Amino acid sequence: LKNWRFILVKITYVESNGTKHTVDVDEGLSIMEGAVTNSIPGIDADCGGGCACATCMVFIDIEWKEKINTMSEEEESMIDFHEHKNDDSRLSCQISVTEDMDGMILKLPESQQ
Ligand code: FES
Repeated sequence: LKNWRFILVKITYVESNGTKHTVDVDEGLSIMEGAVTNSIPGIDADCGGGCACATCMVFIDIEWKEKINTMSEEEESMIDFHEHKNDDSRLSCQISVTEDMDGMILKLPESQQ
């Protein structure tokens, strides 16, 4: 147990109607898993994290961009097809939660309620 660490990262999910949910997410889970395990409405994750449904889309402000992993081609093309995408769109199942993301605020699209 020498290298054992248990880190909780505070993330705020904001529903499209403005309702905020601030929860502690285990480091290493995806942002999608953090929402699902905390029963946050608006992230259905129909494909279970396989980058194949885009029902886990979130908007992440530019200030957090350098703290999160970059987008794969697969993720980019899924987002391309999304009706409600914008420049801040990411698929939350494709982002692993790290310590650096503590305090992050992300918004959910109107199409996910
Ligand atoms: Fe399906 Fe993220 S859960 S794309």
